[in-house]
Amino acid sequence: MNTPPIGILRRALLAAALVPAVMLAYDAYAGNLTANPVEYLENETGDWAIIFLIASLAITPIRRLTGWNEVIRLRKMFGLVAYFYAAVHVVIWFTLVSFFDVATMAEDIVKRPFITVGMGTFLILTALAVTSTTGAIRRLGRRWQQLHRAVYVAAIGAVVHFWWLVKADITRPRQWAVVLTLLLGFRLWWMWRARTLSRS
Ligand code: HEM
Repeated sequence: MNTPPIGILRRALLAAALVPAVMLAYDAYAGNLTANPVEYLENETGDWAIIFLIASLAITPIRRLTGWNEVIRLRKMFGLVAYFYAAVHVVIWFTLVSFFDVATMAEDIVKRPFITVGMGTFLILTALAVTSTTGAIRRLGRRWQQLHRAVYVAAIGAVVHFWWLVKADITRPRQWAVVLTLLLGFRLWWMWRARTLSRS
């Protein structure tokens, strides 16, 4: 198969992935953030975080189905971009939503299930981001792979967070739930297939 040079593709996709952040920053500067700017920023950054998290999970199925092994080099980049948007999302919540009021934030984390799950998801993504370096991969050895399986829990957490925060229309979180089920289902099917093939 003729595949695009992965280094160029990765740089082009990274630049494209940061366009929404630049546009949000520009809109904030120009005062174009709708009538409810904080809610708009919170929703946009949450949306981009989930989009890139799911994109990172789509890489392995693409690799398996196409045999294009180099595509794996996009996985970490998508994961880190997801973390970037999630971190901005959480910083907005700390600052513009909660005004650094630690007591209110703690109460929200304990009493509002969608925030509890959002925080859990964010902590997992933080652990994955700080252990994404070559040094950490070397140091952790086999444990690195075990730890990084937590990305599945984080993705489920992100969808549950979205599902629980919507008040009426569950269309969008349901769409993410379907996509995530397909991506995780693919992995289970692949494992089952590998086991069956090795037995026969
Ligand atoms: C401490 C962690 C987190 C907090 C406190 C938090 C808080 C919030 C809040 C306040 C909203 C807006 C709710 C509303 O419109 O009433 C929101 C929306 C959202 N968050 Fe989070 N969040 C957290 C982590 C995450 C993470 C890690 C992800 C994804 C990886 C995420 C994805 C989303 C999505 C997709 C939305 C909905 C956007 C939309 O309606 O278009 N959040 N979050």
